Amino acid sequence: MSKLALITGGTRGIGAAIAERLKGDGYRVAVTYHGNDETAQAFTGEPGIPAYKWDVADFEACQAGVRQIEGEVDQPVEILINNAGVTRDATMHKMTPEQWHTVLEDDLTSCFNMSHAVIDGLRARGWGRIVSIASINGQKGQFGQVNYAAAKAGMIGFTKALALESASKGITVNAVAPGYTATDMVAKVDPKVLEGIIAQIPVGRLARCEEVAHAVAFLLHEDSGFITGSTLSVNGGQYLV
Ligand code: CAA
Repeated sequence: MSKLALITGGTRGIGAAIAERLKGDGYRVAVTYHGNDETAQAFTGEPGIPAYKWDVADFEACQAGVRQIEGEVDQPVEILINNAGVTRDATMHKMTPEQWHTVLEDDLTSCFNMSHAVIDGLRARGWGRIVSIASINGQKGQFGQVNYAAAKAGMIGFTKALALESASKGITVNAVAPGYTATDMVAKVDPKVLEGIIAQIPVGRLARCEEVAHAVAFLLHEDSGFITGSTLSVNGGQYLV
C-alpha cells in the first residue's frame, strides 16, 4: 500500500509543489491549510488531494486533525512535511511582540505540534520520514527577519535533536533549506530589495518550487535511510555551508 504523506501549508507555493510531486511519485497525499479557503479549493479540485483546515500553531488542533485524516484516509501518516510558515518582516527596532510570536508559533512551534501528533505511530511501526522546510535565512540571517531567522534556525536544531532520538526507530528527520523561491511569500519583498537579493544568487534566478520539492522527494526515498539530521540547501549557491 502507498504510504500516506501529510504536508502542512500544502495548497500553494512550495507546499503545493511538494504535494503534487509526491502524488506523482505514487504516495497518498493529504495537505493542511489555514488562511485561504479559495486557494485551497482550487488546489484540491485539480490533483484530487484532500485539504484539511486547521491552525498548526494549535497543539490540540494538530492532534485532532491528524487523527481525523488517519480515520478518513484509513491509514496512518508515515511521512510528515512541516512546510507551513509565515513572514512578518521588520527590523528589530520596529518589530512588535506580535510579529515575533506569530512567526515563532507558526513556523517553529508548529513543527513540535505536528511531529508530536505523529511520532508515537512512527516509533511503534518502526518507519517514518519527517522533513521540515527551513530557509537559507535560518542559516545566514537576514536583515529585517530576526523572527523568521530565529524560527528557521530553530527548525534546524529541532531536526538534529529529533533525528538523534528517532534514528534507532527507523525514522529519519531532515530539513530542506530553500533559498529565495518564486512564491507569494517572496513576491511580498520590495522589488528593489529583491532585485539586490537576486543579484547575490550565483545561479542568477529564484528557485522554482518544483526544485525544492525534488529535494524533499529525495529525502523520502527508501535509499535515503542513512541520511538523518541533515539540512539540504537548495539555494542556487547563494550561501554555502
Ligand atoms: N543591509 C543593510 N542595510 C539595509 C538593508 C540590508 N539588507 N536593507 C535596508 N537597509 C538599510 C536602509 O538602507 C536604511 O538605511 P538608512 O536609514 O541609512 O536610509 C535602513 O536600513 C532602513 O531601516 P528600517 O528599519 O527603516 O527598515 P525598513 O523598514 O526600510 O525595511 C524591511 C525593513 C522591509 C524588512 C527590509 O529590510 C526588507 O525588505 N528586508 C528583506 C527581508 C527579506 O529578505 N525577506 C524575505 C521574505 S521571503 C522569505 O523569507 C522566504 C525565504 O525563506 C527566503
